Formats: sequence, C-alpha cells, structure tokens
Amino acid sequence: MQNFTQYTPTEIVFGSKTHLQAGIEVKKWNGHRVLIVYGGGSVVKSGLLETIENALREEKITYEEFGGVKPNPRLAYAERGVQKALEFGADFILAVGGGSSIDTAKAIAHGAANPGTKLWDIWTQKVPLTRSLPMGCVLTIAAAGSEMSSSSVLTNEETGEKSGITTVFNRPKFAIMNPELTFTLPPYQIACGVVDIMMHTLERYFIPNQKNQMTDEIAEGLLRVMIENGIKGFKNPEDYDAMSEIMWCGSLSHNDLTGLGREKDFCVHKFGHALGAKYDLAHGATLSAMWGSWAEYVYRFDVDRFCHYGQKVWGIQGKDAVETAREAIRKTVDYFRSLEMPVNLKELEIGTLSDDTLMELAMNATKGGTVKLSKIKELDVNDVYQIFQSANGR
Ligand code: NZQ
Ligand code: ZN
Repeated sequence: MQNFTQYTPTEIVFGSKTHLQAGIEVKKWNGHRVLIVYGGGSVVKSGLLETIENALREEKITYEEFGGVKPNPRLAYAERGVQKALEFGADFILAVGGGSSIDTAKAIAHGAANPGTKLWDIWTQKVPLTRSLPMGCVLTIAAAGSEMSSSSVLTNEETGEKSGITTVFNRPKFAIMNPELTFTLPPYQIACGVVDIMMHTLERYFIPNQKNQMTDEIAEGLLRVMIENGIKGFKNPEDYDAMSEIMWCGSLSHNDLTGLGREKDFCVHKFGHALGAKYDLAHGATLSAMWGSWAEYVYRFDVDRFCHYGQKVWGIQGKDAVETAREAIRKTVDYFRSLEMPVNLKELEIGTLSDDTLMELAMNATKGGTVKLSKIKELDVNDVYQIFQSANGR
C-alpha cells in the first residue's frame, strides 16, 4: 500500500426532505449574502429553486440568482458568475443542481475570492490558489461526484480544452443529498450518471496491483451495488431505495475512498473530455463509448487485474485468467448497453470520424502528445489514436 492522506471535509446531509435545511446549513458557515448557481431550468420547473429560496429567507439570508449554467460548463460563463458575485458582495456560493452547476459554483467561489485573477490562470496553475469563498450544494443528479470531490472541470471554448483542477478548496462545505430530488431526471441522464459513477471507481481500480486489499474490497462492493441499483433506477427513476444507493455511491466513488493507497489513472476521462470539448456531449456517454476499446487494448498487459475484477465484481469463474478477463470486459460493456448507453463512437451519433479527427482527439487527450496516459500500460499519443480508431470501428 502506498502512503496516503485522507481529507474529505464535506458535511453530508442525506435523505428525504433534507433540502429544507439549506438555510440552516448556509448559516452554519456564516453565509449572509448567497449567490445561488443553477443550470438550464430543471430546478425552476420542479419548484426546487423556490423552495431553497424560501429556506434561505427563513434564516434571513439575502440571495441573488445566477442560472443558465450549461452541461460541460463554460469558462466564460463562470467568469460572468464571478462578476455577479463581486457586484452582489456574495459571501457564500450555493449550487443547486448537478456537476455542471457545482463546478461553476466552485469556480465562482475561487474567482470571487481572488478579484482580478483570471480563472484559466488558476485552472492552468499559472496562479496558485490560496483562498476561496465557502460554497455548498443541493444535489439534483447522482453522477459527477463533485458534491464531495476535490476537482472542478471547465471547458475553455477559446482553446477547445476541457480540463479540471484538483485542490482542497474545491471540497464543498456541505452537500445536501435528497434522492427524491432526482425523481424528475430523464432515464438518459440517470444512465449517464451510473456510467460516470462506475467509471470514477474503475479508473482508480485498473492500476497494477499495489496490495490494497481494503481499498479493493470497497471498490468492488461499490461497483456491485451500482450494477444492481443502476438498472433499477434507470427503469424506475422514482425508486427511492435504488436512487439512494446510486446517490451515495456517486459521492463515495469520487471522494477518493475507492482509490486510497494507490495511484490513479483517469485515462478514459481524458478521452471523454476530448470528445466532450469538441462535440458538447453528455460526460457519461463519452466514457461508455470509450471504456471497452481502452480495456480491450490494455487488458493483456495485466490479465490478473482484469481477472480479479471479473471474479469479484461479476462473479465470473472462467476456465483461465484470460477468459475471465475477457468475459469481465464483455459484461461491463453489455451492462452499459442495458442502460442504452453508447459503447462506441458511432453510437454517440457524431458520424464516422476521419483519421485526422481521431488524431486531433488523441492529441487533445494527451496535451499535444506531451503526456502519457494509463497505468496498466503507458499509452502515448499513437496508442491513444489506435484506441480512438477501435472505438470508431466497433
Ligand atoms: O441544467 P438543468 O436544467 O438543471 O438540467 C440538467 C442537465 O441538462 C439535468 N438535470 C440535473 N438534475 C435534474 C435534471 N433534470 C431533471 N431533474 C433533475 N433533478 O441533467 C443534465 C446534466 O446536468 P449536469 O450538471 O451537467 O450533470 P452531471 O452531474 O453529470 O455533471 C457533468 C459535468 O461534471 C463534470 C463533467 O465533465 C461535466 O462537465 N465532472 C465533474 C467532476 C468533478 N467536479 O469532480 C468529475 C467528473 O468526472 C466530471 O468530469
Ligand atoms: Zn466523470
């Protein structure tokens, strides 16, 4: 086991009707002037925004709204949010929504605490981040895990890059998680979330064995719970028990717990971000479209790890390690299919891509060919290009 530091300071307020505590939670952190950050309107339509505003008013908290955040949130829009927060004199940023609203709220908190600093300079680590405003969230979709994570992902439309920063300042002060708030989700968004949640653990799991028995058991347990409940939630979005399991897994899968004591990879996320930046696609769909091609390319370099995954997560008893490993990949891809998720680029409905476009995506995923990806087998830009090619022709 490698040395590690575990610091996950977000307070979780989980369960039915917990969103009514939003005002009390903000007050705990001394918030008096709150900028509420939300997305394209689902929280207006469901009445949630109004309920949250009432909860703030009950605690005599002043607020302003900043809605209109789009999925794959844009840098320029976050900068507008920073201006709004500064004009209003916000002392607390509250996201009401999913990963896109939460990531934008994190960015606004950083920008408002550092007036005059460009957000992209923070994202590219030109300027070190040393302070931020407190922020919290009311989660409406189980997926990105941003409600407990140390990262925030923005798309820079000018450069065509989608990338994240990891910093302790990204950990929300609190996350209110009421599974009932997810009942209005379209099944497609639930499926995207299920894939993303599984992927946050898979990306930490497929690392050469570093003797992490406890961490492995947590990861395998989480994946089994997701496999069982993901399909239930997809078929019946109002299944409270299934949505509760999915929501809690979403946070645990990306708060670092499932990867403690070993390196992490996030290679398939790099492929997904390259696709997301170019085609503005749902994050989970970009991951399911690429995972199978990545797994088939690398499994032979660590058959034992894939075999272990097959045995512990899928209960496969193949006649040998190779057969079990291959069956595990097949079962994972079939599971994504059962959620009606794309398992190749064609199914992303972006047309068949030319070799030049595939190379452009590979260059983007590897920062212009300067970065090697994946831990099971180190992948350079040409390997990544071949994986995109395989996903294109699957
Ligand atoms: O914008 P609105 O109208 O709210 O609609 C959203 C959006 O269209 C809708 N939605 C959310 N809750 C709903 C709902 N519709 C009906 N009822 C509800 N209760 O769902 C759509 C997707 O929302 P979004 O916030 O984009 O989803 P998600 O949570 O999947 O976030 C995706 C973003 O997070 C990033 C992704 O790259 C992507 O940009 N990620 C952030 C991470 C982090 N900060 O730790 C890690 C992840 O790996 C990921 O990269
Ligand atoms: Zn993700």
